[in-house]
Parts: sequence; C-alpha cells; structure tokens
Amino acid sequence: MISRRQFSFAASSLLGGPTLKANPVSYPYSEFEARIARKDFRGMTKSVLPTPSMVVDLDLFEQNLLTMANQAKKTGIALRPHVKVHKSVDVAKRQVALGALGVTTATIAESELMSRAGIKGVLWTKQPGSDNNLIRAVELSRRDPTFMFVVDDPRVVERTAEAAAAAKVKCRLAVSVYAGLTRQGIANGQPAVDLARKVIASPHLSFEGWMAYSGGASHTKGFAARKQKSTEDLAGINETLALAKKQGLPSGIVSGGSTGTYNMDHALGLTELECGSYVFMDTLYKAIGGATNEGEYTDFHNALSVLVTVDSKHHPGQVTTDYGNKALAQLTDQVKGHSWLKVDKQGAEYGLLRFTDGGSEIKVGDRFEIYCSNLDMSTNCYDRYYVARGEQIVDVWPIMGRAGAAQR
Ligand SMILES: Cc1ncc(COP(=O)(O)O)c(C=O)c1O
Repeated sequence: MISRRQFSFAASSLLGGPTLKANPVSYPYSEFEARIARKDFRGMTKSVLPTPSMVVDLDLFEQNLLTMANQAKKTGIALRPHVKVHKSVDVAKRQVALGALGVTTATIAESELMSRAGIKGVLWTKQPGSDNNLIRAVELSRRDPTFMFVVDDPRVVERTAEAAAAAKVKCRLAVSVYAGLTRQGIANGQPAVDLARKVIASPHLSFEGWMAYSGGASHTKGFAARKQKSTEDLAGINETLALAKKQGLPSGIVSGGSTGTYNMDHALGLTELECGSYVFMDTLYKAIGGATNEGEYTDFHNALSVLVTVDSKHHPGQVTTDYGNKALAQLTDQVKGHSWLKVDKQGAEYGLLRFTDGGSEIKVGDRFEIYCSNLDMSTNCYDRYYVARGEQIVDVWPIMGRAGAAQR
C-alpha cells in the first residue's frame, strides 16, 4: 500500500492542484506524458502513475527470463517464447537476447509487429483461414523469409501454395497436429504425414516440421499429474514422427509446450518450447503447483501487477477501487502483500476490495497492486507497461496498440 503522503503529491497534481516545485519525487501531471515520451524517469515513482495501470517488477521479470533460458540450455531444448501474453517488442527482444531462436505468435498482427521490429524466426501458431490472413501471411513471408506459420488442413495448404505461387514467394510451414486440445491440429499418424507430404510437394512451400501444443497439460494441477497429461497428449506426435521418419520425410522442428510443462517436454519429443506466461506469471498459473512445492508454482515469480487506487469508502467490509470490468478484474485475482483482501467486481470502471476485518485503516487514495488471473486477457486491455525497480520507474514499454489496428 502506498502511503498517504506519497498519495497527496500525486493527487494534487492530478486534480490540477498547486504546482509542485523542485520536489525530487513529484511534478505536475501535465508533464507526465512528455517525460514518458522522452524517457525521463527522474523522480518518477509508482506513486505518480495513473491507475489502473500495469507495472512490471524488473528484477523479478529478469529472474523469470533467466530461469527459463537456463533450463532450456541445461536440457538442450530451444526456446521460441509465445508473445501473446505480453504483446511487447521490448519483452520479446529481451527473450531473444537470452538465446530464444525467435518468437511464437497467436495472430498475424502479432507476427507482423514482431517481424517489423526485427525479430527473426516468428512462428505463427494459427493457420490462415481467411483471405485477409492468407494475403498477409504470404506478404510477411516475402518481407521476412524467416517467418513460419502452421497448417492443419489440406485445403489451406493448397490455397497457401496458390497464393505463394502468385506472389512468387516461398512460405515456410509447420504441420499442426492434435495434442489434446480440440481447437486445432490434424489427426496424428498417416493424415499428418500426408499433409506434410502435400507441403513438401509444392515448390512454393517449405516444410519446417511440426507443432504439437499440449495446452490441456499446461494448467493441470500437481507436477506428477501434469507430466502424465503432457506425456499422454504428446504420444500422438511421437507416433507421427516415427511414421514420418519411416516414410523418409525430412525431420524438422517439433514445437509446443507451455510454462506449466517447461521442465518436462524436452524428454517428450519436442525440440523447442513455446512458453509464454513465465515472463510475468498470473494467479491461475501460480495455483498449479511445482515439482518442489505442490501448493504453489514457485519456479517463476509474479512480476506483473495492476496498480489500483481506492476511490471511495462508505460501507462496511469493502472499499471501492478503479479496478473494474474494463480493467479486467477477476475474482481469482490476488492483492499483493494483502491476502486478506478479496478482489470483487462492481461495474465497468469500479471494483471492490472486500475484507472481513482489518480494513479500517484503508483510506481513499490508498493504492494496491493486483496480480491478475490470466495474462493473455489482462495485458490485452492496457497500452503500456510501467517498468519499475522497486518503487522507481525506469522504463515504459508499449503494449501492442489497439487504436487503428485491423486486428489484435
Ligand atoms: C499455441 C500456444 N503455444 C504455447 C502457449 C503457452 O503459453 P503459456 O506458457 O502462457 O501457457 C499457448 C498459450 O495459450 C499457446 O496458445
């Protein structure tokens, strides 16, 4: 919780109050955006941030990146982390700097963003079903020959081959196979091998390997149960790989995995990991339990919080915050350092913190930090990460834009 004294600096600025002169820890809010634009973070602490806003704990974030990079090196598996959870070029570049061979994306728009930012080896994990996506995937393949995407349908392979031929481009494709999630993936065995053959047969397509995303295993509670589930879900791709080898197909990448299975899938047939959430972590992931601690998944730290302000207090057992539905408040969110406070929803721009006792000292203007439940959903609502070392803001990283975006 941020103190009343710190709050009053920020509040007087926000409300157009007296200009704060030569104060080393504050300045008028009118300067805020200008300072952000020129990355002048002197004296900028969490206390002056607008709320609700997302704050990255840089120390913990860096530890998370290192843990994953070291584990991958130790077990000899490559990393192509998923950017859907952070939608940030700044985060992706740090992942690549630590050895990732590219990034994995959920949408063509994410792929375009990452590729334009100079990141090589983007793997788009959805096939282009629409003409719009197909045209963009072919165009991106032309601009960036390291770009790859998946297919799980013969008709999409044909359409991609036709579009690539017309554009005089070679598209790099990986075959997505079923790995326990019914949302995508061709059946393993001969159907998967036949699809790979179809790719290989086209002079405008290049066969890069396979994707087997065992998403059902990612949040399976308990380490042993999760390993069992991942083993079962990846059995199909291993059959496919054996058949492909027998029938003389070239080998290639085998991409999959998640934050929940990062320390088991190297032994289950994958050549690279698509983990995403480990960078920041969320409360649903924390609850899955780890190899050494069944109660909480402590391999990675909560490095992202939403800073919120108490805006009203009139009724017993609750205070009103600015963390409402539009800020993606969830009942499974947690309040950093205050497990006795429960997050509740009140409306679009209003949220509640409920308590049974101990809340008498909470006052209007107090601030709390919330750990969100699901990164993918929450980060999608915000425009930037304020990056902090302790209380001090040291950087701001944009989150992929919404205004004017054809698609996210
Ligand atoms: C295709 C794909 N790969 C990998 C992941 C793994 O991400 P995480 O580590 O956040 O569970 C996801 C997450 O939804 C995904 O959709």
